[in-house]
Amino acid sequence: MSFSPPGTSVGPDRRDEDALRDRVARELDRARRRTRHLTEAVDDGDLRRQHSPLMSPLVWDLAHVGSQEELWLVRDVGGRVPLRPDIDDLYDAFRHARADRPALPLLSPVEARGYVASVRAKVLDVLAGVPLRGRRLVADGFAFGMIVQHEQQHDETMLATHQLRSGEPVLTAPPVPGPSVPPGPDEVLVPAGTFTMGTSVEPWALDNERPGHPVRVPAFHLDTKAVTNARFVEFIEDGGYERPELWSEEGWAACLASALRAPLFWRRDGDGRWWRRVFGRWEPVSPEEPVVHVSFHEAEAFATWCGRRLPTEAEWERAARFDPRSGETRRYPWGDEAPTDRHANLGQRHLRPAPAGAFPAGTSPLGVHQLLGDVWEWTSTPFRGYPGFAAFPYREYSEVFFGEEYRVLRGGSFGTDHAVARATFRNWDYPGRRQIFAGFRCARDASPEEVD
Ligand SMILES: [Fe+2]
Repeated sequence: MSFSPPGTSVGPDRRDEDALRDRVARELDRARRRTRHLTEAVDDGDLRRQHSPLMSPLVWDLAHVGSQEELWLVRDVGGRVPLRPDIDDLYDAFRHARADRPALPLLSPVEARGYVASVRAKVLDVLAGVPLRGRRLVADGFAFGMIVQHEQQHDETMLATHQLRSGEPVLTAPPVPGPSVPPGPDEVLVPAGTFTMGTSVEPWALDNERPGHPVRVPAFHLDTKAVTNARFVEFIEDGGYERPELWSEEGWAACLASALRAPLFWRRDGDGRWWRRVFGRWEPVSPEEPVVHVSFHEAEAFATWCGRRLPTEAEWERAARFDPRSGETRRYPWGDEAPTDRHANLGQRHLRPAPAGAFPAGTSPLGVHQLLGDVWEWTSTPFRGYPGFAAFPYREYSEVFFGEEYRVLRGGSFGTDHAVARATFRNWDYPGRRQIFAGFRCARDASPEEVD
């Protein structure tokens, strides 16, 4: 994001505003091309089907994306007459649980495609005329950025639905790059210090990332790479799923209730080799890749098994943004430059996480690999508002989820778009969830002699 953050200038001049409009249009189009790819890869029957009670039918996601775009950009920002007020209720995520959505009188695939196209045409018309300054909702294109991120987040959800789907494989992607540098030491010492957590200056940051505020973090050690499949197999082979002492009470109850034995989508063959299903194809588990599709409980049990713990959310963000040379807080682990293909495995370019060392340009100054991209990383922190939090533009975006029952995940996965994968971006989910593209890395306290 190259335009001026709010509050730092008297407002963009005409040329800046035109450049911002162009950028918004490109971002809207980029999100839509991905949505089309994910919804045109399967037939109409597959679009209407519910592939897991945890997920909506893909055709619901498609029309819901259009419905949110209509509500915010056509009606609110544009002040235009509603296109389809009759379907508002159907696509309100708070009115109907995911498991109930297939039984609703949803738009058919052809109707849904027509609807989202009509909404988009109106939005581009609104975009051409609305000032991108003044009112907070539109300043710096915020509402448009929010809708871009909303669609990109649903694209990741739809990718997760594809991973849950049974049947012939329909998605393909080039292989991930291998390591181009050795990953180096297993962990680094992140020194004690104060950094700016969250942001008050990223124009498209969402309410739960705001405001930026100082946080002091004691010294700690952090893994330089996400936990790999090879290490996770060691945990399994050492009886990790059979030893209640490694699990929290809640985690052990979840382990027993679901008879957990391995990450989701894994199976073991008669010779004891592990396989996993990746978008419809079975393949041997790759030892060097980060483990993915594990719950917070599994991550926590693994960390206990190896005498470590999960990082707190503040520790994760400090490691991702701290510049030891200047002492400043950065936008990304590698600096302030927006993510490119060189920095991180993002944007569904590859349909799997990459081994540590595959994106050396994205390494943090302390030598921590791939904090952004590859897998969402579980932290030990429940999802709460930062000091000074104010819901914007609506309580249902974040505030209604604050509480002990959710854990924060950081960093984005291979399925996350770079429009979303900021170092301040906060994802949250129930600690038992495994269908998301989540893995983890471990941390430990620094000993007194290591703290200066
Ligand atoms: Fe949504």
